[in-house]
Amino acid sequence: MAKKLQWKRSDKFAFGLWTVMNRGRDPFGPETRPPLSGIEAIRGLGERDVYGFEYHDNDLWPMDATPAKKRSIINEAKRAMKAAGILCTAATTNLFSHPVFKDGAFTSHDPRVRAYAVQKVMANIDVAAELGAEVYIYWGGREGAEVDIGKDPIEAMKRFRDAINFLCEYVMANGYKMVFSLEPKPNEPRSNIYLATAGHALAFIATLDHPEMVGVNPEYAHVKMAGLSPLHEYAQALEAGKLVDIHLNAQEPLRFDQDMSFAADNPKEALLVVKLLTDYGYAGTKAFDCHPYRTEAAPWDFVERNMRAYKLLEAKVEEVNADTRLCAMLEELTVADEGGWNQVLAAYTPKNADKLKVAKFNPEKLAQRTLLYEQIDLRLTELLLGAR
Ligand code: NOJ
Ligand code: MG
Repeated sequence: MAKKLQWKRSDKFAFGLWTVMNRGRDPFGPETRPPLSGIEAIRGLGERDVYGFEYHDNDLWPMDATPAKKRSIINEAKRAMKAAGILCTAATTNLFSHPVFKDGAFTSHDPRVRAYAVQKVMANIDVAAELGAEVYIYWGGREGAEVDIGKDPIEAMKRFRDAINFLCEYVMANGYKMVFSLEPKPNEPRSNIYLATAGHALAFIATLDHPEMVGVNPEYAHVKMAGLSPLHEYAQALEAGKLVDIHLNAQEPLRFDQDMSFAADNPKEALLVVKLLTDYGYAGTKAFDCHPYRTEAAPWDFVERNMRAYKLLEAKVEEVNADTRLCAMLEELTVADEGGWNQVLAAYTPKNADKLKVAKFNPEKLAQRTLLYEQIDLRLTELLLGAR
């Protein structure tokens, strides 16, 4: 393999433990792979030069573990991390598998369930801090509804907000170095999930007591399930300074949650996401959150394939950015600002408003300008397919 294409720890790739622990079960058939424990998952990822892992509390210890059992698993995880040279980069709570959360966790009607959910998160935040995780994810899988008349969405938002506010204070009170990250998804397992897209999450964050402590980790496939553009979701979060983590994978638009490997469906779209992250120096971890195909006997080809795909696209981004033909055409899209309009539009001042009020534009003439999008897109396709 060309040296450049071999991933290194410094690439900051991460995997959810649950991705390699996934056993291929789907709604129509049982597991096709043998079980893998959380500790084995940490070891296997570390052996493959993966920088970090993300975990749910119950990927590591079962919900009914005794305190002694839980402690021995955490200690073993720490030993495995040290031996394999892998970091814990993000943590999250399983607030969706157990039937107690069947109608939501933070948004449940039952205050006891909401309290139990917050307690479960607090307990895992302590472990996450011990393992060194600096990002704590909330994916509200069960926070939604099928029967909307039975759950007031305004009340649900209030409950969600109270939970996040409470937990922010908990992190601060304990002096943990940790930010929260909301992971949007439009549906599945609920008919409609609250905070369906990055846009919803960003608007919600602005209403929190400590918005500075909360960002988003849009998941590529979740965005496609909503029929939207992963590039635009990542870009908006990045521009807002809120992209604290990313979940990469692939998904045919508007279908059930397929969780395929990164770039499996649409390499051009994936390329533009890698280009965005590269060009704008995204510094967080690049976490893969997908599943090996059900036909795989073990998860390791899947692990390597995701990192290899990212590196291939990264190398392609370098080629795209250096392509003189493409650069020249892109350059032509920009227009010399002879009228000084950029400066006028950058800020409202009475002077700028006056200048704009009296300016004369000729829309017919402006509309005559041609844009080279067909040729630009063709050139990108040529580069992607390796044509000269
Ligand atoms: C499982 C979901 O499928 C995934 O997208 C999410 O990131 C994790 N849970 C975190 O809770
Ligand atoms: Mg995810």
